[in-house]
Amino acid sequence: MGISVQVNEKRIRGLRSPMLYGHFIEHFHRQIYDGIYDPANPLSDEDGMRTDIIEAMRRIKVPILRWPGGCFVSSYHWKDGVGKNRQPFFDKAWRVEDPNTFGTDEYIKMCRKIGCEPYICTNAGTGTAEEMSDWVEYCNLETEGKYAKWRIENGSPRPYQVKYWSIGNENYGFWEIGAKSAEEWGRLVKEAAKMMKHVDPQAQLSAAALSDLDWNINLLKNCGPFLDWISIHEYWDMMPEKNEPATYEQCMAYTDHIGHAVDEVRGMLAAMKLDKKIRIAFDEWNLRSWHHPNVHTVRQGICKEEYITPRDKNDDNSIYTMADAVFTACFLSEMNRNCDIVGMANFAPILNTRGCIYSYPEGIVLRSTYHVFDLYVNYMGDTVVDVWAQDAIPSMQAAGKNGQELTVDTLDLLATTWSDRPGAAVAAVNKHPSEAASIQLSLACEGMNAVIYRLNGESTDSYNDIGRTGVSIRREELGKYHASMEIRLEPHSVNVIQFLP
Ligand code: AHR
Repeated sequence: MGISVQVNEKRIRGLRSPMLYGHFIEHFHRQIYDGIYDPANPLSDEDGMRTDIIEAMRRIKVPILRWPGGCFVSSYHWKDGVGKNRQPFFDKAWRVEDPNTFGTDEYIKMCRKIGCEPYICTNAGTGTAEEMSDWVEYCNLETEGKYAKWRIENGSPRPYQVKYWSIGNENYGFWEIGAKSAEEWGRLVKEAAKMMKHVDPQAQLSAAALSDLDWNINLLKNCGPFLDWISIHEYWDMMPEKNEPATYEQCMAYTDHIGHAVDEVRGMLAAMKLDKKIRIAFDEWNLRSWHHPNVHTVRQGICKEEYITPRDKNDDNSIYTMADAVFTACFLSEMNRNCDIVGMANFAPILNTRGCIYSYPEGIVLRSTYHVFDLYVNYMGDTVVDVWAQDAIPSMQAAGKNGQELTVDTLDLLATTWSDRPGAAVAAVNKHPSEAASIQLSLACEGMNAVIYRLNGESTDSYNDIGRTGVSIRREELGKYHASMEIRLEPHSVNVIQFLP
C-alpha cells in the first residue's frame, strides 16, 4: 500500500513567477571568457557566443540572467566595458585580468539570443550612486543625456529596457570589495535607488540583504519605499577553501528546512508591513559553493598555483551527482511553495564552475541539475496547489557536515496545475539513498493520461561527463489515472508525474 497523498486543486497557494527558474553568470573562471563568450571557437556565432550553450539555455527557457557578479561587480566600472576602445583591467575581486571585451552591449545581445530578461547587478563596492544611475541612463533612456547617446553611438539606437537592477552584491561581507556597515549600506542604497528611479521610474530595484535583523531593518527602514526586491544568497555545501564535496547523506541533511532564509526574511518584511510591496529575489543559490581558495580569506595566495589554478577543480563533473539533482528539486519546490513572496531565484551559476551546463571546446555536458530545470520548467504547471501526505512520510538519518544528526523526511511533494488548461503535474522527490517509495495520489484527474518522468542514475553518485551519460530523464506511461493507482518512486530520484486529458 503506497503513501496516500491528497492534492486539492481548489486550494491555490499562488501563481509562481517563471523567474523562480532564473540563473546567474559572473566574470569568474570560464563562465564568460572561454565559456559562453568564445569568439575563436568554431561553435560560436558572429558575435562570438557559443551557439550550443545558448541553445541549451533556450531549452530550459532561462527567464532571467543576473550579471556581471557576484564579487566581481564590486570593483567593476561598466563604462570601461562599452565603446570602441576597450582596455583590459585588473579584476581585484578574482585577481585576474579582464579583457573588457564582454560588456553591457555584449551581455544584452546574449540575453536577446537566449530570450531572457537581463538583470544587472551594480557596483556598490567601489562604485557610486551616480555611476549606477549612469548605467541605467545608458541602458534605458531613449536619447536624453550623454550615456544614451553613447549607447546609440555604440550601435544600439533603441533603449535596452533593462527592468531589473540590483544595488550591490554581498556588501555586508568582509570578503566583498567595498564592504559596508549596515548604516553605510542604508544610506548608499537610498541615494542610489533615488537616482536610478529618477532616471527610470519603471526600473525594479533590489538590494543586497541577508537573513540578519540589523542589516535588513536598517536597509528596509531607509530604503523600503524605493525597493521592489530584497536579494538573498545561500550556498549549503561550503567549499571555497577545500574542494571536499559533502556526501549524498550530508546533502540530504542540507535539504532539512531549506527555506529557512525565506521564512526569516518573510517575517521581517511582514513586521515592517513591506511584504505586499517587496518580494524576495533569491538571486544566488546552489547546493555547492564555488571553489576559489586563498581569496576570500585574510590569507591571500602568493602564487597562482595557490589561488588561480585550484579553480579548475570546479570543472570536475563527477562532483555533480544525484545529490545535486535531489537538492535542486527540493529547493525549487520550496520556492514554488513560497511563490507568494519569492518572485525570483537565480541558480549560481548557469555555466561551468558549479553550473548546470559544463562547456569544453568541442561541446557541452548537461549536468544532473540541468535536467531538474528541464523537468520543472517544461513539465510542471504555473499554479501551485495544496498537497499533503495522509500517511507518515518515511524518514532517514543524515549527519550534516558539522556532524549534527538529523532526521530528514525522504519525500518532497509539489503539486501544480495550469492556469490556462486542464490537468495537473506533481513533482515527487524520493531522497532515500537506497529505498524506493510508493505513493497513491488522490486528485481530480479521473480518466486522464498519467505519465511519469523519472530523473535518475544507477546510484546516488551517478553523474554526466564528456562521453558519459550517468543521469537522464526516462518517460513511462502509467495509463489512465484512477485513485488506486500506485506510483513507484525509485531511490534518490526526482520525478514529475503529469495528468493530462
Ligand atoms: O563564490 C562565488 C561568490 O559567492 C559570488 O561572486 C558572490 O556573490 C558569492 O559570495
